[in-house]
Amino acid sequence: MSIRNAPDDIAELDRRYVFHPFTALADHQRDGPAFVVSHGAGARLTDTAGREYIDIMGGLWCVNVGYGRREIAQAMAEQAEKLSYCHAFTGMTSDTPAMLSQRLIELAPPGMSKVFYGNSGSDANDTQVKIAWYYHNALGRTGRRKIIARQRGYHGVTVMTAGMTGLAGLHAGFDLPLPMIRHTTSPRRLWEGHGLSDAEFTARLVADLEALIAAEGADTIAAMIMEPLMGAGGVIAPPAGYYEAMQAVLRRHDILLIADEVICGFGRLGQMFGSTVFGIQPDLITVAKGLTSAYFPLSACIVSERVWEAVVAGGDKFGAFGHGYTYSSHPVGAAAALANLDIIEGEGLVARAAEVGAHLQKQLHAAFDGHSLVGEVRGQALIGAVEFVDRIEDSGPVAFDPALKVAARIVKGALRRGVIGRALPSADTVAFSPPFVVSTAEIDAAVTAFREAADEVAAELGR
Ligand SMILES: Cc1ncc(COP(=O)(O)O)c(C=O)c1O
Repeated sequence: MSIRNAPDDIAELDRRYVFHPFTALADHQRDGPAFVVSHGAGARLTDTAGREYIDIMGGLWCVNVGYGRREIAQAMAEQAEKLSYCHAFTGMTSDTPAMLSQRLIELAPPGMSKVFYGNSGSDANDTQVKIAWYYHNALGRTGRRKIIARQRGYHGVTVMTAGMTGLAGLHAGFDLPLPMIRHTTSPRRLWEGHGLSDAEFTARLVADLEALIAAEGADTIAAMIMEPLMGAGGVIAPPAGYYEAMQAVLRRHDILLIADEVICGFGRLGQMFGSTVFGIQPDLITVAKGLTSAYFPLSACIVSERVWEAVVAGGDKFGAFGHGYTYSSHPVGAAAALANLDIIEGEGLVARAAEVGAHLQKQLHAAFDGHSLVGEVRGQALIGAVEFVDRIEDSGPVAFDPALKVAARIVKGALRRGVIGRALPSADTVAFSPPFVVSTAEIDAAVTAFREAADEVAAELGR
């Protein structure tokens, strides 16, 4: 390995040369990074000064089998030595992507047929939109260009997917969304469903979707994209009956349903797919993150037989399918994914996510229910969130002044206590999404760190 700079130079190199994603750039240019990560094992990271942290976000909801898994590193090294690269254009193939595809179709909810690979959740969702357009065009339904997404949904950052993402911070300064994107109401109970029963809230959300479709014209809409449980938008599970009713509307209007399983896929909700948890029957499924537990940047579009048949038939009109990435079907990525799935299945990590997830939910409620800054504690299995609000009135919650940076301050306080967490964009919400191998002691330590940090900020605010 060649390392040109001593570790104590790294923070300065970073400050000078790295353009960071989702970062307050002027602050970073002034202050540089708070620490430099050196290595990881399980749910823990260690920095270059030797300080250990619990990574309660599992990276960005992605390091599901934990850091430092030799089996995956070895599978990648062996594959890189044997065959470092093989493209997939014009039918070229190699062994690991073919084997992974079979395994994904066997694991996926019923009705899925083929797998198209990319490098990130963003590019996979971009591909899904193109598949949906192509599908309708192949069937002669030209003019179906619009895509429905949900406010607070997160689907990535490409020109298309940043627009589908229903968070204003991803649009500002970029003149997005693109004109064919529409957003419908988020199933966020605290704000949009305040005071409503599940049945009333579901009815309102479905009525909003129907009104949007009626206003736009169903024959202008190609697909709707939804995360089974919304992650970055706030860790939001839908009210009972929601997906059943939403899907009935989409089916009636021949609008494809894309399930964005980038966070939910591979066990975080205690079952292999979020679609199964919520009874969703998608036409297209997007996976990334947990597919390799982030050991390699690999994503996939899992395509149903119904869509596949139309896309194949489209070849008569449009010729060879004109889409693909240099790194589609990367053999090293597929080797990482196979080794990752071996670990998930071999160690029973989906069941473990359900088990330690129940502990996480219990501890979050015990620590934060009734706290003076807390509006809601929510989550399911091994994904959780605490949302901080100024107060809740009869008419609904009232947010803190964003200038107070309540969640960001709490995250900083937790970091001082050795826990790496994340304040989600566009809300005073902190999320918890640890590796499935996290111990209950690590969960307890992380929740305690956040509780102490919240108490500290409450005291500063005079609460
Ligand atoms: C649900 C969901 N979809 C898509 C993406 C985008 O994935 P990527 O960052 O790999 O492009 C994310 C990333 O957080 C996500 O959570």
